[in-house]
Amino acid sequence: MAGNKHIGILTAGGDSPGLNAAIRSVGKAALSCGMEVTGFRDGFRGLAENLRFPLDKTTLAGILTVGGTILGTGRDKPHRMEVDGEIRDMTDVIAETYHHNRLDALVCIGGGGTHKNILRLMDKGLNIVSLPKTIDNDLALTDTSIGFDTALGIVTEVVDRLHSTAHSHHRIIVAEIMGNRAGWLALGAGIAGGADVILIPEIPYQVETVAAAIRRRSDHGTNFSIVAVAEGAMSVNDVAVYTAAKQRKKASKGTPEHAQAKQELAAFNERHGGHTLRLSKQLEELTKLEARVTILGYLQRGGTPSAGDRLLATRLGSRCVELIASECFGVMVADRGGVATPVPIAEVAGNLKLIAPDHAWVLSARRVGTCLGD
Ligand code: F6P
Repeated sequence: MAGNKHIGILTAGGDSPGLNAAIRSVGKAALSCGMEVTGFRDGFRGLAENLRFPLDKTTLAGILTVGGTILGTGRDKPHRMEVDGEIRDMTDVIAETYHHNRLDALVCIGGGGTHKNILRLMDKGLNIVSLPKTIDNDLALTDTSIGFDTALGIVTEVVDRLHSTAHSHHRIIVAEIMGNRAGWLALGAGIAGGADVILIPEIPYQVETVAAAIRRRSDHGTNFSIVAVAEGAMSVNDVAVYTAAKQRKKASKGTPEHAQAKQELAAFNERHGGHTLRLSKQLEELTKLEARVTILGYLQRGGTPSAGDRLLATRLGSRCVELIASECFGVMVADRGGVATPVPIAEVAGNLKLIAPDHAWVLSARRVGTCLGD
């Protein structure tokens, strides 16, 4: 029976616009069918420490348009959580809190890391339904995730704005866009904003190829270019170094060489953090045009959600409550072909949705002459 159920809600991982719209839709749908709803603060830590947040008509009012999450979020992992300065497995404590609060189900709203954490809690017998949230849009089995549409609009507007200053100064402007493992945001906003070069993690690039594309534009009288770069994009050389370092770390597990291998990979990741600045300097040298860098950072995760994200959050969140009422657990409410569809969390966790080389967006970019660095 729906009426006597008690639902817990938490938001975990990086924040995004649309989280409050999702909390609102789950909360209002649950309350409207007589369920009780309790929020837990700051991701999984809220369950470990029983940090409850009352969700009722009052607290749910007026949050549809508000960015971020009223519950707070965090990246704590249930099985490796820092408590009093020590790293502890808190999965059993979380399960105890779940039962202590007499929860019938838990709604987790999050991205890739969250879904890996959910699996561990499902193994402890918790009834969980999740909603897909990440501006990276890299969650498997869902066409889109909450937060992506808003971020796409923000980044597109930035690319638009960068055109005027690049044109005025005859410059290359390199825009660093979020997306460590998948380039959906950089590719989508790069196309929508008319970037001349788009570099994504899925397509390793050659800096000489990028420079040649920019020089061709100059030779034809267009002496400015916008280069949209996903933060996880890598040159062909960097991919070789990264892959070798990852393999050494994996192969050395349990051996004395492991610490060194871990350190090498960490050093690579640290160095890669500045790759867009290095790329802009390389392009300056190769094209003789001035180059500047704009790192969009957390602008991409801030502010009020787009209409699309509000609609998506309301569709998925309200369907989530229906699934709980019918005791369908262990599923993520995915957006598939415009239909809110339950898919097994076991098939989402650990699986990335990457851009295929023949994806329609890639083909479209190539058709209009965008350089993808290869
Ligand atoms: O996962 C979403 C995301 O915004 C990534 O695009 C970005 O690299 C990461 O989170 C930043 O993480 P944090 O908010 O912990 O700095």
